[in-house]
Amino acid sequence: PSRTHETASNDAHRHRRTDSTPGAELTFPAGFTWGSATSSFQIEGAHDADGKSESIWDRFCSVPGNIVDGSDGTVACDHYDRFRDDVALMARMGLQAYRFSIAWTRVIPDGTGQVNEAGLDFYDRLVDELLAAGITPMPTLYHWDLPQVLEDRGGWLSRDTASAFADYAGAVVRRLGDRVTTWTTLNEPFVSANHGYVTGEHAPGHTSVRDGFAASHHLLLGHGLAAQQIRSLAPDADLAIVLNFTPTEPASDDPADLAECAIREEVENRWYADPIGGYGYPVHTTEALGWDQSEVLDGDLELISQPIDLLGINYYTRQVVAAPTDGDDDRPKEFATTAMGWEIHPPSLGRLLRWLDSRYSFPKMMITENGCAMPDDARIDSAHGSQVDDLDRLDYVQRHLAQVHSAIDDGVPMVGYLVWSLFDNFEWAWGYTSRFGIVEVDFETQRRTPKRSADWFSGVVASNSIID
Ligand code: NOJ
Repeated sequence: PSRTHETASNDAHRHRRTDSTPGAELTFPAGFTWGSATSSFQIEGAHDADGKSESIWDRFCSVPGNIVDGSDGTVACDHYDRFRDDVALMARMGLQAYRFSIAWTRVIPDGTGQVNEAGLDFYDRLVDELLAAGITPMPTLYHWDLPQVLEDRGGWLSRDTASAFADYAGAVVRRLGDRVTTWTTLNEPFVSANHGYVTGEHAPGHTSVRDGFAASHHLLLGHGLAAQQIRSLAPDADLAIVLNFTPTEPASDDPADLAECAIREEVENRWYADPIGGYGYPVHTTEALGWDQSEVLDGDLELISQPIDLLGINYYTRQVVAAPTDGDDDRPKEFATTAMGWEIHPPSLGRLLRWLDSRYSFPKMMITENGCAMPDDARIDSAHGSQVDDLDRLDYVQRHLAQVHSAIDDGVPMVGYLVWSLFDNFEWAWGYTSRFGIVEVDFETQRRTPKRSADWFSGVVASNSIID
């Protein structure tokens, strides 16, 4: 196993572009890492194999109306049984890193206590297969699939879940720590807390602002406690967390719009980064929404703010924020949208990266997700047979990469870019109706076919550059 692709040296980020005319080739720093991302529940299937227990997402999917197409994750991309072929495909595509997540329900089915070696074996084999193919494994310890038994004891509303998470993290790091060089604790805790506990669109489906605050703190505490485990068991590894950001802009200068925008900015873009970066919880929102912080005990903020090595950034869109009205917000979008209805706005990514660097100065940052669901209704003939002709997705990725490149030019320490997603997969409440893959999955046959964007992305990886 080599670490060649893992990080770029600091100096390498400081290179300057020599030609910025349209059509110019924009070369990324030597050592910049290119790859793709997935998560356990969205691709693995094998929902009860080898001792795996039920997760909150297994349970959530079983309630009619929660998932638009009534689907679930029992089979998904059947990756659990097809991982060797999937790694071979990534290798053919030339990918250098693969971000996946580990299912807590496979490793400690009871949530706490006994480790299920058979479940850990799967990730052991996956890591070995990746390393043999020259691909850097980047596991995330929690991508939303909490053991249902822990939800039955309070889930993220309970402080005990944070300690249980650290114990589970320790078990995984003990087994894989000799080969994994970057450990990521949580994926998008904002979405876990907000969609899971405030809006109820995601498992476990609570609808309470108060619960959202409690869940957010216990998620961050879980990150801090797991970080201690990672530091002690794998002192040479990079420690990371993956946060999602949706930059805000006020709809107008109306004070009501500005006030709402200020809160949304704190809740969506600073709620997790601020405590991790040592600023504590954003004050304005805490006061405006009346959080008494009773969950925050002495020492918690110190644990949460221990240094990380890498911030993973998930970016998809920006948001234009107006004061809440009684009806739906049906203001027209200013820019084109993806199949999710998300506005395509690459400049917001560049602005975000510069802001993150200036406010937090994390040593390294990586795009751990960026990509789009598109209609995928055009096809062409290709070397792979009939192929999705997704020039729109290709264009989306290309324009966002140009923003990453420009941030690097300005000295922002970006060390890699992972496209979401490798495969069409289970898109949470949207089931299989939203296709984010650069590789098409036929869910009848499980056949994988690279889309045109995947072939283009392979060229980007090989040349370490894009044409602007
Ligand atoms: C972020 C999440 O981490 C991922 O699971 C999801 O599929 C993508 N966004 C697209 O919505």
